[in-house]
Order: sequence, then C-alpha cells, then structure tokens
Amino acid sequence: MRLIIYTGKGGVGKTSVSAATARLLAKKGYRTIIMSTDSAHSLGDSLGMTLPNDIQRIDENLDALEIDIIYEMRTKWADISRYVSALMMSQGVGEITAEEMAIIPGMEMVAALFYVLSFEQEDKYDVVVMDTPPTGETLRLLSFPDMSNWYIDKIYALMKKFLGIARVTVGKFMDFPLPDKSVMNSIDEIKDKMNEVKALLEDPKKTTVRLVMNPERMVLSETMRAYTYICLYNKNVECLVVNKIYPEDGFSDSDFFREKLKEQEKYLKQIEESFSELRIMKAYHMPTELVGPEKLDIMADMIFGDSDPTEVYADKSPMRFLTVDGIDEMRLKMPFVKKGNIELFKGESGTLVVHVGSQKRTVSLPATLVDAEVLGAELDNEELIVKLKR
Ligand SMILES: Nc1ncnc2c1ncn2[C@@H]1O[C@H](COP(=O)(O)OP(=O)(O)OP(=O)(O)O)[C@@H](O)[C@H]1O
Ligand SMILES: [Mg+2]
Repeated sequence: MRLIIYTGKGGVGKTSVSAATARLLAKKGYRTIIMSTDSAHSLGDSLGMTLPNDIQRIDENLDALEIDIIYEMRTKWADISRYVSALMMSQGVGEITAEEMAIIPGMEMVAALFYVLSFEQEDKYDVVVMDTPPTGETLRLLSFPDMSNWYIDKIYALMKKFLGIARVTVGKFMDFPLPDKSVMNSIDEIKDKMNEVKALLEDPKKTTVRLVMNPERMVLSETMRAYTYICLYNKNVECLVVNKIYPEDGFSDSDFFREKLKEQEKYLKQIEESFSELRIMKAYHMPTELVGPEKLDIMADMIFGDSDPTEVYADKSPMRFLTVDGIDEMRLKMPFVKKGNIELFKGESGTLVVHVGSQKRTVSLPATLVDAEVLGAELDNEELIVKLKR
C-alpha cells in the first residue's frame, strides 16, 4: 500500500491536488481512498459533494473520508474519553466532553493514521492520499508518532504509579478514579499502534510526503523550511507540485501582467535550484474556479501527464547510518540548513537531540550506538553528518 501525504502553506492547493491525484489513481484502476485531516473540511467542496463522517464510495475505485474527530472520540475512543473525563471531574476540573477532548492537538492526524494502519492490515486499498491542514500544523502532526510515544509513556508511568500507591493507601485515593482494565488495554493498544504507524510513515518506499506550493516569495521560504523539517522527521519527500502558475500566453498584454510574469519566472528559477533533488510537477492557474471532477481531472493531467502518481520519485531515506573508516556516521538529509542553526546534544536513554531553528527532533540511536561518543557534526552537500565513536 502506498501512502501519499500532501502538505504546504495555506491556500496553495493541497486539497485540490490531493483530490485530483486520487481521481487519477482511481481511473488507473488503483483501489484508492482520499482522506482529509483538515477540520476545515474543504475536500467535499473541492470534489463538489457533501461527505459524511464515515467512509463513502464516491466513484469507481474511489472512496473518501473527512475525519470528524468529535465523532471519532465518541465512537472509537470512548473508553479513554470516559476515563479522562472522570479523572478531570475527580480533580474538580469539571466534566470534559468529547468535544473538548477533540481539541487535543494532533488528534485528527492520530485518528487518520490509525485508519491508514487498518487499511494496510486489511489490504483494503492500494493507495491512500492524505490531504492535510496548512504546514505549521502538519509539521507538528508528522512528528506526532515520536511525540506521542513519549507522552503516552509518561501518562502510563503516572497511572501505574497511582495504581501502585492506591493499592497500599486505599482510602486516601478513594476519590481518584483508577483506570480500569479496558482503559489500560486501550492505552497499550494505542502505544503499539503508534509504533506501527511510525514504521509505516518512515518506510520511504511506502510513505512519501509531497510539497505543494505556488511561485511566490512567502510560499517559497515556508516550503523550504517545511522540507527541512519533514526530512528531520525522517519522512521521504520526493515530489514538489508547483501550483497556480500563470500561463505565459494567458494574459492580456498589460504592464501589470508582464510584471507578474517576470516575478513568477524569477521564483520558478529559484524553485528549480532549491529543490533540484525532487521531482517537480507543475499546474497552471485555471481561469475559473477549480471545483468538481472535470476540473480536477484537468489538473491531474497537468501535474502527472502520463506518469503514475504511485511512483516513488526518489527513495533515498532522509536519514541513514553508515560506517566510514571505523567511525559511525548518522546522516540526516537537511536541505537549506546553515551550520550555525544546528545544535546537537545527547538526550536521555540513547537519544540524540537535534535542534534546527525552533524545531527539535529526538533521534533514537541504534542499540549499537547508544553509548557512542559524539565526535562532532558537519554539513556536507545538504546532509548533516554526525560522527560517533563506539
Ligand atoms: N490551479 C488552480 N487554478 C485555479 N484555482 C485554483 C488552483 N488550485 C487551487 N485553486 C483554488 O484555490 C483555492 C485554494 O485551493 P485549495 O483549497 O486546494 O488549497 P489548500 O492548500 O487545500 O487550502 P487550505 O490551506 O485552506 O486547506 C480554492 O478556491 C481552489 O479552487
Ligand atoms: Mg485544504
């Protein structure tokens, strides 16, 4: 199963490109589902239909699903919701509703990724196309499997402690509702699933992240930043869709449009230089609103032509480990990062903490390198090389 995740700044065309890709895949005969994790729910608008909160068949080979997190919390996360709610009440916080639980950041993505996992296990689809909310949010969500494992570990440890204490000091903790077995089982299950999700997301042949952008200055800088961070989160970025390009012959001969075209050309050149290792696809700005199947199919044709969207346009994993002259190297593909922006230090229990700008990533070192000494780091050809000695 292939998972294609589209990400990019607000309004660049992620939803349109996702819908267009999914339609093309279905036409090519792949069992396809398009999923949206954006609570703004514009996927239905783009497709020109209303989508329910369950999987819906919308065309031959094509299903669609807009994640409705409140619905998910009420149905699939009921045990945990109930417990957290009881816990809050016991602490005098007052009742917490499914609606309130649902605003925990990243829940849409977690729910979506659990769906993806079950699709893979059931061999339900050949391709999952995922439309996401604007970049900032998605970046945090893509780091979620790492983050949530840490989070769940802490909660788990805390609960175990409470359970232990409660057993010896019954009475004192009477008003503290203990998580029952079903809650503990649910937590265990989430933990296991999170690890499976992580493995799926970090398999560069299965999961790829595609950037969507427009030829504009602000979009360019945000896209470059997003690219760096997605690599840092160990996801394979292999394709860039430049959308809303103004066609050269599509303009009236006014000064305004001539200036616009000149500016666009400058950014297109910068894009080619900056993302040279990615497959760059292009879609022109359409004269009318891009809504409904026919327009989406025109867009898919502009982007993919005869090529197959399931292709992995590059499959070099953004993070790799190797040994050079007896020294171990961890190589992270990190485009656009300047040396001064990178900070490294060893974290708890065999981890290496990499700071890039405002973002932080904790990399679990392989068992053989847990006790290794960090000799230093250098940036070579857009790769961060961390040297380690066992
Ligand atoms: N190539 C195009 N030509 C004309 N209009 C386009 C094109 N691509 C996208 N649009 C229009 O631009 C608007 C934003 O597109 P879309 O919703 O796909 O972007 P998005 O990145 O998903 O936005 P958001 O960040 O809000 O989710 C929509 O009105 C869409 O119809
Ligand atoms: Mg969108």
